[in-house]
Amino acid sequence: TNPKTLELANETVSYLKSQLPETLQKPRVAIVCGSGLGGLADTIEAEPKVELSYSNIPNFPQSTVQGHAGKVVFGLMGEQKLPVAVFVGRAHFYEGHSMHLVTFATRVCKVLGVETMIVTNAAGGLNESYAVGDIVCLNDHLNLPGFAGINPLRGPNIDEFGVRFPPLSDAYDLELRRLTHRAWKKLGLDQQKRRLHEGVYAYLVGPTYETRAECRMLRTMGADLVGMSTVPEIVVARHAGMRVLAFSLVTNCAVLEAGPKGYDEAIQAMSKEELHDFLSKGKANHQEVLDAGREAAKDMQALVKQILCEYAEI
Ligand code: 6GU
Repeated sequence: TNPKTLELANETVSYLKSQLPETLQKPRVAIVCGSGLGGLADTIEAEPKVELSYSNIPNFPQSTVQGHAGKVVFGLMGEQKLPVAVFVGRAHFYEGHSMHLVTFATRVCKVLGVETMIVTNAAGGLNESYAVGDIVCLNDHLNLPGFAGINPLRGPNIDEFGVRFPPLSDAYDLELRRLTHRAWKKLGLDQQKRRLHEGVYAYLVGPTYETRAECRMLRTMGADLVGMSTVPEIVVARHAGMRVLAFSLVTNCAVLEAGPKGYDEAIQAMSKEELHDFLSKGKANHQEVLDAGREAAKDMQALVKQILCEYAEI
C-alpha cells in the first residue's frame, strides 16, 4: 500500500472523467485482458467509445511486455448497452513495478464505481486433464508471494477501500461462475473440443517459468494452473468489495515429469536424439503462449460477451 493511493486514484479518475462522455463515466464492469486476449476491446460497439493509452493516464504504470499494448477502452457492451471499461495490458510485479502500481488500475476501477472485475490471463496448465486452448474459470488461488510477504495490502490499511483483514474464502463469485457455465452452454461451446474447467491458480512472480520440480510441488499443493498475474488485482478488488470473475487460458502444459526413466538411468541411457526430444517437450516460451492465445481468444471473447449480456439483466 502506498499511503497516497486514494489521492492518486482520485486524480486519475478526474482525468478519466474529463475524457469521457456522461454515459461512459461509470462503468459497471471492468475487464482486464491478459496476453493476447485484448481482442475483446475491438468488439465494443462504436459510439460512444473512448480509447485512452496508459501513457497518457496520470499515475498509471507503463507496461513493458511484448503483446501487452497498454490502453483502456470505455464503451457500451451489447444490446443492453452495459457500460464497461476494457483494460488491454496490465502491469506485472516481475517488470519491477511495486504492488501499489500493479494494482493501481483496480483501485481506479473501485473509485470509478465498478461493481465487478472480470480478469483474464494466459497460464500454464498443471492439471493433467487440461489441454492447450482450454479455458479455466478460477475458483480459488494460491498466493505464494503472499506467503513470503509480497501482498498488495501490506502496509497501513486504507479504510476508504476496505478492512484491515479481508477474507478471501469467497473471492471468486459463485453466482458469476454459475452464470459462466450457463453462458458456455448457451453459446454451444460445450459441443466442441475446447473445454471449460474450474480450477485453482497458483501465482508466482516470474519472469522465469517453473522448473519441473516446482511444477510437481505446485500440483501437490493443489494448483491446477500457474501464472504471473491476476492474484494481486483480485486481492485488491475483494478488499474493496468488488465482485470477481477470473479466467485463465491454458496456453501450454507445464512439464511435470522428472525424466523419461526417472533420475537415475535417464542421463546415461538416452541417446543424443532422445535427450533433445525430451528437453524440448513442453518447454514454456512466450511465443507459444501468444499463439495459443490467438486461437482460443475468440471463444474467450464470446464467453465474456455472453456473460455481460446476462449480467446486464441481473
Ligand atoms: Cl507455464 N508458467 C507461468 N508462471 N506463467 C505462464 C505459463 C507458465 N504459461 C503462461 N503463463
